[in-house]
Amino acid sequence: MSFAKKTVQSLGCAGKRVLMRVDFNVPTKNGEVTDASRIEAAMPTIRYLLQKGARLVLCSHLGRPKGGPEPRYSMKPVHAKLERLLRMNVAWADDCVGPAAEAASRALTDGQVLLVENLRFHAEEEQNDPAFAEALAKLGDMYVNDAFGTAHRAHASTEGVTHFLKPCVAGFLMQKELEYLGGALENPKRPFVAVLGGAKISGKIDVITALLGKVDRLLIGGAMMFTFYKAQGKATGRSLVEDDRLDMARQVLAEAAAKGVDLVLPVDMIASMAPDGTAAGLDRDIADIAQNEMGVDIGPLTQKLFAAKLADAKTVVWNGPMGIFEVQAFAAGTMGVANAIALLKDKGAVTVVGGGDSVAAVQQSGLAEKFSHLSTGGGASLEFLEGKVLPGVAALDDEGK
Ligand code: 3PG
Repeated sequence: MSFAKKTVQSLGCAGKRVLMRVDFNVPTKNGEVTDASRIEAAMPTIRYLLQKGARLVLCSHLGRPKGGPEPRYSMKPVHAKLERLLRMNVAWADDCVGPAAEAASRALTDGQVLLVENLRFHAEEEQNDPAFAEALAKLGDMYVNDAFGTAHRAHASTEGVTHFLKPCVAGFLMQKELEYLGGALENPKRPFVAVLGGAKISGKIDVITALLGKVDRLLIGGAMMFTFYKAQGKATGRSLVEDDRLDMARQVLAEAAAKGVDLVLPVDMIASMAPDGTAAGLDRDIADIAQNEMGVDIGPLTQKLFAAKLADAKTVVWNGPMGIFEVQAFAAGTMGVANAIALLKDKGAVTVVGGGDSVAAVQQSGLAEKFSHLSTGGGASLEFLEGKVLPGVAALDDEGK
């Protein structure tokens, strides 16, 4: 896929203040960042701009504060982590807009970095308020967006700000995410197999519908399989079922058949009386679930079936775990899928994982290197797979203009 937006490579940024939106919405505990993957993923763009002599101003949201400062959502832990990763001092501003932040941006010299406090400490960020966007734009002479994970939000720092700065270009992470996800959707090498899991069909219906028009096979696991079973008149015990989505499930099955897509549902499951792992998990044929049990994972026969359906794949998109993988006893199905997909990259396939949970599962499996691309976007990758335009991408300057 050719990338249709201008990138940092087109920037003449030496001696200029570059305002860069990053997605440093990372988990923190006791003032420490517990998973720095998203910060590390932005490093190629950060390092590139610093080498070019930019004066870099980084801004991000963290968590979902209620429109005002909340100490537990401060970017300070990120600041400390960033200094360690870059091995240099990073300037800091207590607010993302206003005279102090602006002065801090103007105090930077070539190759220096400033991180400003959480954008969402101002309600105007999520409201995409033009005055707030204009105030934010005062921190830079040009704009880079490398926050793929937030590109599905039309907020002041992702969309509004682009009306006040020129040029507005994509960072390397943004480019890489869109090339992998877009390449899979637009021009997949076949067979193209999608693996979808997660709890609810309602959160995935748009992506299922969009993928039905593109894939050769669709493998469905996770609790949403039970909504499909119920729609087929099968017993589901105490499993999570969305009773108001049964018609939707039937429509998906009919559409897959009409389009000639091989839609594969599990043939066995791990059933348990307790989803938290305090009761044993038993391998059961789909038809044999007891009334007081719930399905918590796909079973070993399904793992084999899914592995066989993946074996010759040339493009794979995976979103959503196969079971309650956070509980070790119920993680085998998700890890089995991770193992099956991990075999494919070396055979020339493109394998892309989107969604926070499935990416976490791959990282937990230690197989991350065996995947072509792990997306840093949860909601953003899902919306992209649904075929939606991401406002944070649309707002960037088009290549060739
Ligand atoms: C994410 O973690 O998916 C992004 O950072 C976006 O966060 P949000 O869902 O709070 O907008």
